[in-house]
Amino acid sequence: MMSTLHANSTPLMTTTFPSKSVCPPKRTLIRCSATKTPKHYNITLLPGDGIGPEVVSVAKNVLSLVGSRHGIEFGFQEMPVGGAALDLVGVPLPDETLSVAKQSDAILLGAIGGYKWDKNEKHLKPETGLLQLRAGLGVFANLRPATVLPQLVDSSTLKKEVAEGVDLMVVRELTGGIYFGQPRGFSTTEKGEEIGFNTEVYATYEIDRIARVAFETARKRCGKLCSVDKANVLEASMLWRKRVTLMASDYPDVELTHMYVDNAAMQLIRDPKQFDTIVTNNIFGDILSDEASMLTGSIGMLPSACLGESGPGLFEPIHGSAPDIAGQLGLFCLFYLILQDKANPLATVLSVAMLLRYGLQEEYAAITIESAVLDTLNNGFRTGDIFSSGKKLVGCKEIGEEVMKSVIKLFRNR
Ligand SMILES: NC(=O)c1ccc[n+]([C@@H]2O[C@H](COP(=O)([O-])OP(=O)(O)OC[C@H]3O[C@@H](n4cnc5c(N)ncnc54)[C@H](O)[C@@H]3O)[C@@H](O)[C@H]2O)c1
Repeated sequence: MMSTLHANSTPLMTTTFPSKSVCPPKRTLIRCSATKTPKHYNITLLPGDGIGPEVVSVAKNVLSLVGSRHGIEFGFQEMPVGGAALDLVGVPLPDETLSVAKQSDAILLGAIGGYKWDKNEKHLKPETGLLQLRAGLGVFANLRPATVLPQLVDSSTLKKEVAEGVDLMVVRELTGGIYFGQPRGFSTTEKGEEIGFNTEVYATYEIDRIARVAFETARKRCGKLCSVDKANVLEASMLWRKRVTLMASDYPDVELTHMYVDNAAMQLIRDPKQFDTIVTNNIFGDILSDEASMLTGSIGMLPSACLGESGPGLFEPIHGSAPDIAGQLGLFCLFYLILQDKANPLATVLSVAMLLRYGLQEEYAAITIESAVLDTLNNGFRTGDIFSSGKKLVGCKEIGEEVMKSVIKLFRNR
């Protein structure tokens, strides 16, 4: 349901970002906010590890400012997750973190992981905390847009004519498939050889609900949906294709095609503009959305939304904790963080725009953020990952301040 718009929340922008995804939802298939009082939202912040705290801090400031301009108040509660939680309480997802997250209106996650915990046993790895969080929140649909902005077209590793105009959305199934399937584990063969094994498994309800999200998403974009699978080899993919095909009759306005994942990986590089919306399983979506991210130039620009049937959504940049640019942990942590300041926070800022759009149905506030990001790029500010000659190289904090200046400017000029 669209929230009532505040008097001063008129659309004020001259630029939009990205063009296909700014339309307000025609129908709300996935409900992901549990708004208690109008115009006040509780947001759980999960900064996590590495560059997570840096980028979340910038995004929180942008969200507060945009909220104040749109008559929205935010209450923030910061909770530990990942390595930070391991260091604090010995588990990667404390019960209290999940409980606070579930009770909030939306969750903003930075990133988890780092060298320090790489050798931990599986149940004590930061990544386990992230999987537990997604499963605990029941967020089965992961929306990952990949848009090549005109301002950053030269940052793409593809030729300009191939990259220019790319604007696609990967809808990835997030709580099923091989990452969760049983049986899994290690064993030994009769010959005494060690084996590791996992199970790719999908039930019809899991395919149907993600397919519905994908058809609805495609309907709001260009009406083209490509379902990616490996139905020539895997039984789980054969069922996937059958169920997605069946659902197509509910969406006569959406053009459905199917593609094998190996071909999809190739086509994303050869001719990415052929794609509008892609729907795929957990593991293929993980890989293809990272591949799609490189079309845009930097993983530091890409947001994502994880949504379920009810309860709050989880919003996060698609990048990880980038320990190489986050500085070293230890006694001089703070010192190194100040020295580095290299992270691009725009993926997290754009995740906040998704939080507003998909989590809180605050479309106008989402557009404000996206327009401010574009304005910042138009003004020539770049972090190292998207820097090109002639532009102004700035750090994480400074580009965040520039986004905030752009928000203020956009309101002043309206
Ligand atoms: N959702 C998550 O929290 C998540 C996702 C992926 C990886 N991880 C974890 O992050 C850790 C590092 O993994 P990785 O190196 O494979 O992936 P990564 O995304 O952290 O980094 C890959 C490369 O991209 C750069 N990069 C990433 N984000 C950036 C940003 N915002 N600005 C500028 N440059 C950026 C990094 O410096 C690095 O060179 C691992 O522990 C991994 O498990 C977490």
